[in-house]
Amino acid sequence: MKFDTVIKGGTLVGAAETVSADVGISGERIAALGVDLPTDGAEVVSAAGRLVFPGGIDVHTHLDMPFGGTTTADDFESGTVAAACGGTTSIIDFAIQYRGEDLRRGLEVWHRKAEGRAAIDYAFHMICTDLPDDRLAEMDRLVRDEGVTSFKLFMAYPGVFMVDDATIFRAMLRTRDNGGMVCMHAENGGVIEVLVQRALAQGHTAPKYHALTRPMSAEAEATRRAIALAEMARVPLYIVHLSAGDAMEEVRRARDRGVPAFAETCPQYLFLSDEDYERPGFEGAKYVMSPPLRPRGNEERLWGGLASNALQVVSTDHCSFCMTGPAGKDLGRDDFSKIPNGAPGIETRLLLLYDGGVNGGRLSPNRFVDLVSTTPAKLFGLYPRKGSLQPGADADLVIWDPAKVVTISAASHHMKVDYNPYEGRTVRGAPAHVFLRGRRVVTEGRFTGRAGGGTFLKRSARSA
Ligand code: URP
Ligand code: ZN
Ligand code: ZN
Repeated sequence: MKFDTVIKGGTLVGAAETVSADVGISGERIAALGVDLPTDGAEVVSAAGRLVFPGGIDVHTHLDMPFGGTTTADDFESGTVAAACGGTTSIIDFAIQYRGEDLRRGLEVWHRKAEGRAAIDYAFHMICTDLPDDRLAEMDRLVRDEGVTSFKLFMAYPGVFMVDDATIFRAMLRTRDNGGMVCMHAENGGVIEVLVQRALAQGHTAPKYHALTRPMSAEAEATRRAIALAEMARVPLYIVHLSAGDAMEEVRRARDRGVPAFAETCPQYLFLSDEDYERPGFEGAKYVMSPPLRPRGNEERLWGGLASNALQVVSTDHCSFCMTGPAGKDLGRDDFSKIPNGAPGIETRLLLLYDGGVNGGRLSPNRFVDLVSTTPAKLFGLYPRKGSLQPGADADLVIWDPAKVVTISAASHHMKVDYNPYEGRTVRGAPAHVFLRGRRVVTEGRFTGRAGGGTFLKRSARSA
């Protein structure tokens, strides 16, 4: 057998197993795994002393997204270059249906944003904001014809994205029948709005009031309600960016009684805390995101949930806004409710989770792979093409150097945003090489791919 590329002498880490073997790549696919694979005519890349993972899959990103009166700093080019440098080879971004428009239009707009710019493979979820009865059939079409098999609904952001329980329930019933997945932003938007208006009336304008007006119980309540609605509709449910330990317990209880409920958390909820809102001046704005950062101690509950499978995925919710300039966080200098919500993280997900999880003794290397690649692929219709090291899978591979020490900084990151929430944090373990469908897109830590090298991934609907 002849290969185009042979990755030699690495330790292959999948979600379920660890083996020492070479990887033979032909064209865009993994062709064989084995000891001492023939190398004649092949490019040989040594992975001695290194680990080989399936490429990371980030199922929650916002690139080139208009939001909060401005647009995110990262577009599909800068965001996906940064993702590749961090070991992520596929993303699922959120296309948006605005009120009065059909779903198809939102999807077309997002295709235009990504095409020719994405440096890694990409797919879309569809954010639905307006679903009268006569628009529900569009959901079926997206699942059946367009490979867009998941829908995000919001229980928060009244007047922007929030939909009522009847709309949620209608969408859930439809999704049960069309084989898609409902993703939920679970925070009680009505309660939060009352708290925000009271805080502003009392003259509280600083960034920390963002967190004080979005309590953990508002997330736990919405999570419980979303699960109850999904249970009545008999549809699988995926809670996005889960931050609060109490919300996680709602998911755990649902799963224990056999409800197909799933949840992701994000590195910001594992590594940062509400103490970051106390930073001097306006610096707390860097951490204004929804749900907000939680009190110290909460993160240990989430780490426990990742280990025990109460949580199944770690994504980023990458949604970057600059601190300086008129188009970013500064919009809310005099009013915390006007600070664009979101933070960058598409580049640092694997670095942080490997260091805090694997080096920190909280996750096995296999569980790490499961959380950042395999389960995201399975839940969102990309497996086994993505998220696996099996022959036949796309040759999306990360050759990981477990000894490499990196100090995270805005001065060296690839994201087009002027701060890094983890500035100065040192981690051990980083990608040395990254392959996207057999082509090297990162070489010894340097981006060597190209904008436009990524392709759209049509996803399959739920099979069971
Ligand atoms: O603050 C956040 N999370 N911004 C992005 C939009 C969302 O709710 O995911
Ligand atoms: Zn959200
Ligand atoms: Zn998000």
